[in-house]
Amino acid sequence: RPVVFSGMQPSSDSLHLGNYLGALVNWVALQEEHDPIYCVVDLHAITVAQEPTALRDATRRTAAQYLAAGVDPERSTLFVQSHVPAHTELAWVLGTLTGFGEASRMTQFKDKSARFGAEATTVGLFTYPVLMAADILLYGTHLVPVGDDQRQHLELTRDLAGRFNSRFGDTFVVPEAMIPKESARIYDLQEPTAKMSKSASSPTGLVNLMDDPKVIAKKIRSAVTDTEREIRYDPQAKPGIANLLDIYATVSGRSIPELEAAYEGRGYGDLKKDLAEAVVERVAPIRERTLELMQDPAELDRLLAIGADKAAERAERMLATVYERVGFLRRR
Ligand code: TYM
Repeated sequence: RPVVFSGMQPSSDSLHLGNYLGALVNWVALQEEHDPIYCVVDLHAITVAQEPTALRDATRRTAAQYLAAGVDPERSTLFVQSHVPAHTELAWVLGTLTGFGEASRMTQFKDKSARFGAEATTVGLFTYPVLMAADILLYGTHLVPVGDDQRQHLELTRDLAGRFNSRFGDTFVVPEAMIPKESARIYDLQEPTAKMSKSASSPTGLVNLMDDPKVIAKKIRSAVTDTEREIRYDPQAKPGIANLLDIYATVSGRSIPELEAAYEGRGYGDLKKDLAEAVVERVAPIRERTLELMQDPAELDRLLAIGADKAAERAERMLATVYERVGFLRRR
């Protein structure tokens, strides 16, 4: 079975609709015919300052949200990144194969460091994509389901895999990104030219999976659109409507042309009302289930420990091969 690997950063209160539609939906679908490994990337999270108690809580909650969305611990390996030390160990090796210029060209690093300023920009933030490459390459991953914003990091991962292989012999699988069609990039509801994200300017533009259903419906109904009336998919001229149609297509499984036809001659109000219902129908059960799972942190920790054991065994095997190939002396 082809190996799938992906991860999300534990974020303080909740994953958002972009995380869910851009990645998590595919994670769940891939369980049918693949060998999936899903990780809560806490090591990545500390590249920006985190409050320790909140981080621990967010790590459990993120795992709970994976489960609530349909990740099945029987079919998937579910674990926390810091539980498997091989990730940081391989990242060190890969860091020695990564050009300084190459890492400097990562747009996510450029954006974040510009936002944080020189003082708050850490070496960890700079080497973040190298750790991500290690996450993926440790498991012989074929497929990485992510949103469009991870495309460049995936390219770096592929380059590093190829570089290592040509220098030290065939070791890593060169992975492919799996980026969804309609939901590759979900935009902020209030600012439909900016990606939906935790760091976005307005909280009303961001739909959290843990939001109260009424709040979600309200956020969707107040989404920024345009002054026309026609419901047509045109991301350049009508980014707000295009974003709503992308979300709708993904949650309903209907195609964009089908939705355009269904809303011909109808107003934006109708579209928003129906979309709000469709999103709530999808997201409310995930919220409920997450709240239930959070009632029993010991059970969550138990599942995560099983996942960490499974992941560590595979990761250590790959790391041993890597150490052998680069010429480290074996410890007796
Ligand atoms: P993170 O935590 O920022 O986001 C998690 C996933 O959600 C996707 N995503 C979106 N998709 C569509 N529209 C949006 N507005 C949107 N916002 C976020 C992201 O593309 C991602 O798939 N570096 C990664 C975490 C990571 C990882 C890995 C991923 C670490 N190691 C190995 C894959 C494989 C990150 O910060 O994602």
